[in-house]
Amino acid sequence: MSPTGEHHPASPTERQHVSDLNALPADFTWGVATAAYQIEGAVAEDGRSPSIWDTFSHTPGTIDGGDTGDVACDHYHRVPEDIGLIKQLGADAYRFSVAWPRVVPGGDGPVNKAGLDFYDRLVDGLLEAGVTPFATLYHWDLPQTLQDRGGWTVRETSEHFAAYTSHVVERLGDRVKDWATLNEPLCSAWIGHLEGRMAPGLTDLTAAVRASYHLHLGHGLAVRAIRAASSDARVGIVNNLSPIEPASTGEADLAAARRADGHINRWWLDPILGRGYPQDMVEEYGVELPVRPGDLETIAAPLDWLGLNYYFRQVVTADPDGTAPHAKQVSVPGARLTHMDWEVHAEGLEQLLLRLTGEYGVQRIYVTENGSAYEDVVAADGSVHDPERVRYLEEHLAACARAVDKGAPLAGYFAWSLMDNFEWAYGYDKRFGLVHVDYATQRRTVKSSGRRYAELVREHTERRGRAAA
Ligand code: FCB
Repeated sequence: MSPTGEHHPASPTERQHVSDLNALPADFTWGVATAAYQIEGAVAEDGRSPSIWDTFSHTPGTIDGGDTGDVACDHYHRVPEDIGLIKQLGADAYRFSVAWPRVVPGGDGPVNKAGLDFYDRLVDGLLEAGVTPFATLYHWDLPQTLQDRGGWTVRETSEHFAAYTSHVVERLGDRVKDWATLNEPLCSAWIGHLEGRMAPGLTDLTAAVRASYHLHLGHGLAVRAIRAASSDARVGIVNNLSPIEPASTGEADLAAARRADGHINRWWLDPILGRGYPQDMVEEYGVELPVRPGDLETIAAPLDWLGLNYYFRQVVTADPDGTAPHAKQVSVPGARLTHMDWEVHAEGLEQLLLRLTGEYGVQRIYVTENGSAYEDVVAADGSVHDPERVRYLEEHLAACARAVDKGAPLAGYFAWSLMDNFEWAYGYDKRFGLVHVDYATQRRTVKSSGRRYAELVREHTERRGRAAA
């Protein structure tokens, strides 16, 4: 019988996965993650102003199905129920994001008390339930008013981000200890300003490089603001990384892989970890960075942990006619794909964890997101059986355990996501949740994967109890 209590015979590989998890440390953090715009809804309530994602999602043709985050999972009105779900999944930590346009609706200037009250109640509810809050300060929802003044392409936005951060940490820092500044600045800069597939929807290399710089600067200033407001804060940043492989051993593909690695990984790690910007990529972009004295030190402010979001590897080939980095992803024959068409490749997670450990010397890592979208079906009895997501989860947790076994200082894992939600440009069609959401009724149903997750957490917790006894 499967550990979920269903008729789903565990294959030998699955059984193998379970025992593999022994390597995870006794104090491993088991979490689930979400982001404000993807779940909250209530976009015009209690003084919230529009963000760039409200503007973008309301622009015809940007989002599959014309979906918007106007209602999303209605989490804003369902916090107690959703905390109940986190508990049901066995998670001992919850990674959420704070919406800047709720807290400082003008982008800079006065604080909106009602906005902070919402997160205050959320944090209290989590702590009462025994769940540790991990707060992310920026998960892509820039106040539109700041975009109108140049957004991340101008330096003032970095300064406003630090000021907004101070307000949040002054209010919540007595109870929230773990803070992430930015979520996936790569997506904000490259996908939002270069590829145009995310807000603010630009396709301009100069704007993208400037945005990446000001995101980094904003990060560094925010680290300082967090530490000033809360002496025992533990601060990190969340990056999405991908192992890069050349499509062939030819010279052109090897060089393309090196550039793609610069674009996807090194550009986002090196400056933060004190190595400055990779010179080969500065040349590749050919855009002058608006560096002022002291900035690189600010950007490299010491961190307590690094967050890794992992979804897929990239196999790339040279793309001389494209834009920087002149490399394009090719599909892998025979690959297992999720509903996002992303390749399932758990080894990539192990590789990245070991690279952060070996090459970068990172001393504390969380997998802050990892998960998969599948076309879930609600059965006649109301249950949602998602064996592919169960397998994905087991394989990636096993990859984490292998990395730990080889020395990676992995402190925790956050499944993406607590529940199905607004998947950005893909709208509601792509479901990543461990909990299914029926958007017509807002009914939540824990999927098989959610029950499996709870069980893995329980087994690990019991083992650590036994070890301590
Ligand atoms: C990441 C985002 C997250 C979610 C997952 C699927 O890039 O951080 O909000 O959309 O992808």
